[in-house]
Amino acid sequence: MKYLALILFSFLLFAACVQEEIVEEVYEGPATEKAVVVIHPTEGNEASGVVTFTQTDEGVRVQAEVSGLGSETLHGFHVHEYGDCRDSAAMSAGGHFNPTDMPHGGPTDTERHMGDLGNLPANEDGIATLDFIDNHLQLNGKHSIIGYAVIVHERRDDLQSQPVGDAGGRIGCGIIGVANPDF
Ligand code: CU
Ligand code: ZN
Repeated sequence: MKYLALILFSFLLFAACVQEEIVEEVYEGPATEKAVVVIHPTEGNEASGVVTFTQTDEGVRVQAEVSGLGSETLHGFHVHEYGDCRDSAAMSAGGHFNPTDMPHGGPTDTERHMGDLGNLPANEDGIATLDFIDNHLQLNGKHSIIGYAVIVHERRDDLQSQPVGDAGGRIGCGIIGVANPDF
């Protein structure tokens, strides 16, 4: 019995050492505090602007300033599953960023795609400014949004139709990158 206990203890010690080694091997680099997206219009459209994502204690602050939104008041606004704007209609950006396998929803819903940011509210000049704190987005870790795309849609996201809120075509696309803190 004494030997058994000793063997078990040795094994646990060995397992603990191995685990520590694995943890040490993962290099994480500096944490991203701020990300930036430059929105470019898709073919035949005029949506352009800048979106930033900034880590705060409460969550990720989303600030957007987008112009060229035309006469529609609300425009669906999401992070999409590929950082790929090369298609002239931005279809290459795929569906909504959804690493947790949730249904489509609005930004304040607990069940939503991680990329569901609701709508950009445009004024009569077709310019939208938005500033809010989001509790789902992450700038670091395995669900980080860095490298994915932000899409601006032609129409309003109704925040419930599956799978994408019936927001219509894609009028602007940009890639989320690590922001230069001096800008
Ligand atoms: Cu979208
Ligand atoms: Zn969605």
